[in-house]
Amino acid sequence: MIILGIETSCDDTAIAILGVSPKRGYKIPRFRVLSNIISSQTKIHTKYGGVVPSLAKREHQKNLVPVLLKALGEAKLLKNIKPQYHSKAEYGAQQVLNSKSKTLKNILEREPELLEQFIKIVSGISKPKIDFIAVTHGPGLEPALWAGVNFARALSYFWNIPLVGVDHMEGHIAANFLENSNVEFPAIALTVSGGHTQLILMKGPNAHKLLGETLDDAAGEAFDKVARMLGLPYPGGPHISRLAKKGDAEAFAFPRPMINTKDYNFSFSGLKTAVLYTIQKLTGSDPVNYELGSQQVKKLTPKTKRDLAASFQQAVVDVLIAKTIRAAKEYEVKTIMLGGGVSANEELRRQFEEKIKKELPATAYRVPSTNMSTDNAAMIAAAAYFHKKKASLARWKTLKANGNLKIG
Ligand code: KG4
Ligand code: ZN
Repeated sequence: MIILGIETSCDDTAIAILGVSPKRGYKIPRFRVLSNIISSQTKIHTKYGGVVPSLAKREHQKNLVPVLLKALGEAKLLKNIKPQYHSKAEYGAQQVLNSKSKTLKNILEREPELLEQFIKIVSGISKPKIDFIAVTHGPGLEPALWAGVNFARALSYFWNIPLVGVDHMEGHIAANFLENSNVEFPAIALTVSGGHTQLILMKGPNAHKLLGETLDDAAGEAFDKVARMLGLPYPGGPHISRLAKKGDAEAFAFPRPMINTKDYNFSFSGLKTAVLYTIQKLTGSDPVNYELGSQQVKKLTPKTKRDLAASFQQAVVDVLIAKTIRAAKEYEVKTIMLGGGVSANEELRRQFEEKIKKELPATAYRVPSTNMSTDNAAMIAAAAYFHKKKASLARWKTLKANGNLKIG
């Protein structure tokens, strides 16, 4: 079985092709990543200090067709590209000739640039041997999600290939299955990304129950905001992680919000504010929002910055580990899995492993390789495998983006 995955929920335009061979006695098949293309927009959004949804949508529109060609090419599924049309008349004639162009125009009505590339380029590709198309339909930035959803709808309609919508957070969990099909259930999954922090109980690869989530900022969002206070560019997580390596994690006693509450919810907004107040105290400045390159930030010594980064990071790590371990004990799980951009954090990965070995030695620990922790489309295609029965030829008519999609 071959699955084409499409992901545009934030600022990465990603398309992957996944080969799937069921494995005897295992709930999870063997996945082979035939291609996994990511076109990052980081450079564009960095100047704004975060992702601008309308810009993200515009970039997805531009990038989806080139990324598709690359993904099909690497997977050796790209055949017969027609020469491009040179004059407007030829292009127009082709549109009239193409019996499907009217519907394509309706599907891609709000993505005119994508429509143009679709008619010019995609219509010249032979239908690839793909069993179904999977696209992230939420949660995420709605304008960004729509670009991917409408592109997937257009491909499904044009090639007559079944389509299914995938939850982005299920994708982050499924990133673990790409490298290891030997995952025992029940399992606890901690997903930590730029928009979400969730603890999920799983009775099987496709049975998700949300135990708790953040009540305010996501873990990644806190990393990004603290990075901004320290004058570091977006996305801040990797920069904080790098600074923290040489910092003292005990230099500042930041709060560990909700670490002892009985529920499985999180809160990182107070921690972020505690870092802000500490910076204000250290620099003797009025309460302000610390922006990139502000004068106040320059008053901090490099050592103080490293200590702030390390102390903040440790507070986040402590809360994430404590709550996950407690859930794992309560539900007597066989596996703990991490996923999402923040799970690329070296300290988080290392300390999780140490703690599980010490407190739950019989529990397996899984975390995707760092490049699969952050957004990609291979994880979307992997999650889609467990929804293959829902993939249909008619889904292109109804599939919608939903920025607030809830797992489970
Ligand atoms: O999952 P992801 O790629 O996109 C979303 O679905 O949001 O996660 C992005 C988030 C950003 O907030 C980024 O700062 C954070 O993941 N991140 C990290 C690290 N690498 C990425 N946070 C901490 N340490 C890292 N090494
Ligand atoms: Zn993500």
